[in-house]
Amino acid sequence: MRVVVTGAAGFIGGHVAEAFAAAGHEVLAVDALHRSAAPEAARVTWAALADRPGITLVETDLAADDLTKLADADVVVHLAGRPGVRSSFGAGEAATERDNVTATRRLLAACLGPAPARRPRVVVASSSSVYGSAGDRPHHEDDPPRPASPYARSKVAAERLAARAVEEGLTAVTLRYFSVYGPRQRPDMAFHRFVEAARHDRPLPVFGDGRQSRAFTHVADVTAATLAAAGAGLPPGTVLNVGHPEPVTVRDAIDLLAGLLGVRPRVREYAPAAGDAARTWADTARAERLLGWSARIGPAEGLADQVRWHRERMERAG
Ligand SMILES: NC(=O)c1ccc[n+]([C@@H]2O[C@H](COP(=O)([O-])OP(=O)(O)OC[C@H]3O[C@@H](n4cnc5c(N)ncnc54)[C@H](O)[C@@H]3O)[C@@H](O)[C@H]2O)c1
Repeated sequence: MRVVVTGAAGFIGGHVAEAFAAAGHEVLAVDALHRSAAPEAARVTWAALADRPGITLVETDLAADDLTKLADADVVVHLAGRPGVRSSFGAGEAATERDNVTATRRLLAACLGPAPARRPRVVVASSSSVYGSAGDRPHHEDDPPRPASPYARSKVAAERLAARAVEEGLTAVTLRYFSVYGPRQRPDMAFHRFVEAARHDRPLPVFGDGRQSRAFTHVADVTAATLAAAGAGLPPGTVLNVGHPEPVTVRDAIDLLAGLLGVRPRVREYAPAAGDAARTWADTARAERLLGWSARIGPAEGLADQVRWHRERMERAG
């Protein structure tokens, strides 16, 4: 298959591009590195992809450049965007709208462009943040959206664009990822910050009291779900939760990390961040039924894997 992966210099996109290439597919890796929220990490991932057989790199800004050539594929996996709830408020709102909504609108229009028989299948990355906070049961895909930040609203808007493109004849599906972690996690994300703080003997920065819980999902599980969704022949318009079914509190995750790092956790609490959900919780029955997918990696194994990556990275840096 010829596969376009947008956001391939990113955390999830890098893993997904590599996995498609390893499975023998021809990959066009697309990114606009200057739009990255973590440009240094993006450059490292991009350089690593350049060395992989089966991957061709294309620097393209989805919100501004001509996208016609990207539609010449069997599958387009759209992972490009501006992640981050906190950074989407205030000055970050316009960039969030541009890279999550304008970029998605333009990409979907390009994919609708070719004759119907030649249109690619499209997988669009969305987020658990569209739900807001979970109550006493996991969020089901049919629950109404309750976005609590510009980021979450941009993801609701991107989902609606995908739904409209389906009405116009595109075979598109949407994956709602829940807090992703693992090797190459972005430096602004919680576990990355915790590990680096602990390694430098600094207190771990926590927003709120740490009792908030998350369906932390290892990037290998997210990658497996994404590849499965790209190949599964899912009904157009399908929306799937891609999350570990058991939420873990931030405090419990910190204790696990501290144990792995051999340190006593020292936490510095900051005011709860605007737009942060108290709990994210994924109902994964639909993904199990339609994709045969469920998350396999629990927090102990997954965090050990991320800590291993931080250590190897330090060793490489000397
Ligand atoms: N990481 C998570 O926990 C998580 C959770 C839910 C949803 N998501 C979604 O998954 C997707 C990937 O997330 P990630 O964590 O890998 O993010 P990331 O920031 O690591 O990667 C996104 C990539 O998109 C690129 N990009 C941004 N704007 C672009 C544009 N206009 N044109 C081309 N490329 C552009 C960036 O340069 C970056 O490399 C995003 O849509 C994000 O909202 C992520």
